[in-house]
Amino acid sequence: MCGIVGYIGKDASSQILLDALRRLEYRGYDSAGIAVISEKRKLQVRKIKGRLSNLELLVQQKPVTGSCGIGHTRWATHGEPSDLNSHPHTDVSQSIAVVHNGIIENHEELRAWLEKHHVDFVSQTDSEVIAHLIDFHYNGDLLLAVRETIKRLDGSYAIAVVCEEQPDLLVVARKDSPLVIGRCDDATLIASDVPPLLSHTKKVQYLNDLEIAVLTKDDVKIYNLDGDEIKRDIETIEWNMEAAEKCGYEHFMLKEICEQPKALGDTLRHKLDKQGNLVFPQDIETMIKGAKHLLITGCGTAYHAAMVASYVIEQVASVPVEVVIASELRYKTHIRKEDEICILISQSGETADTIATLRMLKSLGIPTLAITNVVGCTLSREADKVMYTQAGPEIAVASTKAFTTQLLSLFTIAALLAKAEQSALLDALKNLPGQAQLLLDRLEDIQRFAANQFNKTKVFFMGRLVDYAISLESALKLKEISYTHSEAFAAGELKHGPIALVDTSTLVVALCTQPALYTKMDSNIKEVKARGATALVITFEEVHTFDHTADMIFRIPKTHPLFSPILSVIVSQLYAYYCSVQKGNDPDKPRNLAKSVTVE
Ligand code: M6R
Repeated sequence: MCGIVGYIGKDASSQILLDALRRLEYRGYDSAGIAVISEKRKLQVRKIKGRLSNLELLVQQKPVTGSCGIGHTRWATHGEPSDLNSHPHTDVSQSIAVVHNGIIENHEELRAWLEKHHVDFVSQTDSEVIAHLIDFHYNGDLLLAVRETIKRLDGSYAIAVVCEEQPDLLVVARKDSPLVIGRCDDATLIASDVPPLLSHTKKVQYLNDLEIAVLTKDDVKIYNLDGDEIKRDIETIEWNMEAAEKCGYEHFMLKEICEQPKALGDTLRHKLDKQGNLVFPQDIETMIKGAKHLLITGCGTAYHAAMVASYVIEQVASVPVEVVIASELRYKTHIRKEDEICILISQSGETADTIATLRMLKSLGIPTLAITNVVGCTLSREADKVMYTQAGPEIAVASTKAFTTQLLSLFTIAALLAKAEQSALLDALKNLPGQAQLLLDRLEDIQRFAANQFNKTKVFFMGRLVDYAISLESALKLKEISYTHSEAFAAGELKHGPIALVDTSTLVVALCTQPALYTKMDSNIKEVKARGATALVITFEEVHTFDHTADMIFRIPKTHPLFSPILSVIVSQLYAYYCSVQKGNDPDKPRNLAKSVTVE
């Protein structure tokens, strides 16, 4: 969940590291730090609790020099956010520095062992053991010391290491945490994710688990744990710099909400031939069409995409779909079905629970298809097949365009499997990017509504079928960034308990996009209004069922009712965003959360 960066080149490294950390701040913002080796081979460490701006100030007051360094932005797991718990961590003599993203599960045992060898620890973190172990194994060869160290680590890590005695080297290693190497003509960089690299290069190399790389300013050598050198291709990133910048928007989240028409259009284009017919790579089509049972999984928002897909695929294709949260699926007994395949959904492709689930399913022999947004991510490399969403980098912690492009990808799978009406479904899909734009053209309406309602202390979302799945996603979005207590209910379940919570302080948002269930929803709205709640209805244009029940109606363009989630969720995303801003929160960096959950 933390972000790590590193630079070795001919230029001064401190500003390059700070700029890179700025682009990774979405991964954690409890503290930040850098370590740079000076021309006189002196390790200089600057680290401080709080946001990156604190570190920038510290570096202004106490500058560092040198063209080889590492940096870190932290999402605290072991030990409270504090200056001492911030990374980089050093050995006792302060000549070796390490930044780490992940969790060292056997850190207590290693700490006890190191203490017996007279090491005094200064922090409460699990990561500090890495610096002391490298020092313990260091005998003039940093690569060897790192290799011996990682052999002793259990858990997950992406690490970058610098050492005073070897100022022309940066050594990195990974297991179950992301790490990308950027190749320039006269410099080499590393980062936990692609955006920090984009202003320097689009040429990248990915490390696999249990690999170590030795970086100099003009070369990269990759080794396995046995010390054998591994050849790795250099790949080209397709994203451009603007994709990773705010481009005049106040927040990344608003930019990413507004990018949805383009992201949807790009994702759909990748699934159409020149004549506008649906076209899948042959191997993926064979895999999908050969399945008699679908298992779909993911965490958080990705799980909600899976839920929507289950309703849609079962209705149009009559293929049974089982949906399980990845953090549950990895631990439960899964009974393998005949001709079952699993679709794993993850924006980042690095979510620890989703990757562990993938490995569990592979061990059962179940074919796997990943839907992800990040080329080269762990999920894409380990799954049997991969479909990429074309959302561009999603920086804000709250997932928006990644979700709607996941939905669109899943809807194309539904259309591929559809028993009837395939061309009508496809036409509806083709209209969605434009309809999303029409909705976004009216964002001020939602901004005004949020300005009146943002201080509601209880917000409940309710719906039936796909509207229930979107209710869950809407409640998650609102709680994530506005810290409002929000919950979602299957509307029919209301009277089985949740209605006890409804009073005059409650806002109920009713998602009503399933024509066959309009009258049922209208009854539910009447029930909550009778208990004093305020009711906002989200429904299609030209629907008048709720005109006399709702306090306010927000109308979305008419689409196939199964595809309404892509449009209705945009309303919820904007509502959550504007509530967050009204409350003075930072929607891009909500408290306690990080973008990429690479720990359990
Ligand atoms: O990268 P992933 O899609 O695997 O992430 C899964 C969840 O952590 C993620 O969707 C999370 O729920 C978001 N913060 C939701 O906005």
